[in-house]
Amino acid sequence: MDTADQDQVVLNTVAFDPEHPGNQWRRFCDLLWFDEALQIWLDVSRMALNPDHLQGLAPRFEAAFAAMAALEGGAIANQDEQRMVGHYWLRNPALAPDPATSEHIAAEVERIQAFSSDQLAAGRFTDVIWIGIGGSGLGPLLMVRALGEEGRGLPLHFIDNVDPKGISRTLDALGERLRTTLVVVVSKSGSTPEPRIGMGQVRARLEQMGCNWPEQAVAVTMLGSQLDQLAASEGWLARFDMFDWVGGRTSITSAVGLLPGALIGADIEAFLEGAAAMDAATRVADLSANPAALMAAAWYVAGDGKGRRDMVVLPYRDRLEVFSRYLQQLVMESLGKRLNRQGEVAHQGIAVYGNKGSTDQHAYVQQLRDGVDNFFVTFIEALDDSTDLPELGGERPGDFLDGFLQGTRSALMEGGRQSLSITLGCFDERRLGALIALFERAVGLYAELVNINAYDQPGVEAGKKAAAAILDLQGRLESALADGQPRSLEQLAGELGCDSPEPLFWILRHRCANHAGLTVEGTWGDPAGLVFRLS
Ligand code: PA5
Repeated sequence: MDTADQDQVVLNTVAFDPEHPGNQWRRFCDLLWFDEALQIWLDVSRMALNPDHLQGLAPRFEAAFAAMAALEGGAIANQDEQRMVGHYWLRNPALAPDPATSEHIAAEVERIQAFSSDQLAAGRFTDVIWIGIGGSGLGPLLMVRALGEEGRGLPLHFIDNVDPKGISRTLDALGERLRTTLVVVVSKSGSTPEPRIGMGQVRARLEQMGCNWPEQAVAVTMLGSQLDQLAASEGWLARFDMFDWVGGRTSITSAVGLLPGALIGADIEAFLEGAAAMDAATRVADLSANPAALMAAAWYVAGDGKGRRDMVVLPYRDRLEVFSRYLQQLVMESLGKRLNRQGEVAHQGIAVYGNKGSTDQHAYVQQLRDGVDNFFVTFIEALDDSTDLPELGGERPGDFLDGFLQGTRSALMEGGRQSLSITLGCFDERRLGALIALFERAVGLYAELVNINAYDQPGVEAGKKAAAAILDLQGRLESALADGQPRSLEQLAGELGCDSPEPLFWILRHRCANHAGLTVEGTWGDPAGLVFRLS
């Protein structure tokens, strides 16, 4: 069927009507998208996406396709940060706007492969600690959980937080193996506090053990960042580039995802190739033939273009358990914006949550079936069940998994709830790359429909500044108390020029719980009556 015929079929399909399941088969056939080479199906027939919506949205999609073409061509698509947005170039370097960038991308992939295979062959390292947060942590975690194989490559351990108990548990669990642990510190900006604190703790522990940090340390960061300068000046084992034009949440096809992929022995070329193939399929400037456009249109209609329905991600594969969290960042950090591109208040976003099926059928799926109708489900399945598990008493686990998915999908439909389904012929590196690329493009197109910048993160930056202000206040508070005089919270707030004593209460409650040498008079239930003194 050529594109024009497909257009006709899609635009003439029957409306979504859960009351008449007979129509559903026709919608399924009309709207089904399938890629023969990738063996991926997308079914949006159970979303309330009707011919009039498709017709109405067509002009806006024309503009969205043009914007995506400009973005891929090197336009400053991230206006607020005055940056290009080039994650699509990472899997097809020829697309990059100049030959130097194309060569740089290809050279980094080669360096990652060479470094990883050398380290795996040398057998010097037994483990890897990966230190990074947000886009610098979630993509690597997804790679490891989705593609890791027992007995292949190195085990990865993650420090993606400044929770002292978490860091300590990771270090204690490794114990003597820390001596043979490769430590990868990942931060695009090279100045985020969480990886800096995590790095400091790991380094201190290694040095206490008599290890030489630079021989075990690798940096993944932008050229010239603080982290890059530190690694260069100390001669760390290796440095890999993050590019200015790649955002954290779309960095999985850069060193951020490729290095952990290679260290676990996964086929990163197949991963990139799958992403490139899906990029080609989602570059098609035709709403009815472009799976990312169909998805973005379905999200738009489901939530009235205002995100009024949450996206519940239900992959029926344990390997994809982290994918829901990965999408939570990709979608919510990209689309969750207060202002539109004209600076008007828009309060956009789509809430994303999920875990995996069928596990979640025994948790929140109860509410999806019977409760408030404020969501749509994204089912993800992989058809290939091959394992060494025997068939027991005529029962195959994969048949049950499929049955549970179909059962939930039907039950949702009966209740008038919306869902879309993505089916993968099998699950592997190529399909993971394709799946990620599908969602990246859908997010980009949706952002065009709702007129927001999907590539900045002002809320994340505001959170970093707010935390820095609290740490600064804590420093000033400790200096004020150093004279040993007793003071109430209101007195301290006045002295320190705080609008409210409440942050001081939070800081001092935390410090007292950690035996900071403070004496407290009064009861914690009556904050206004408390008096503090450094003893
Ligand atoms: O997607 C993003 O841009 C963020 O989530 C970042 O990845 C996160 O804040 C970490 O930043 P950095 O890699 O600069 O340390």
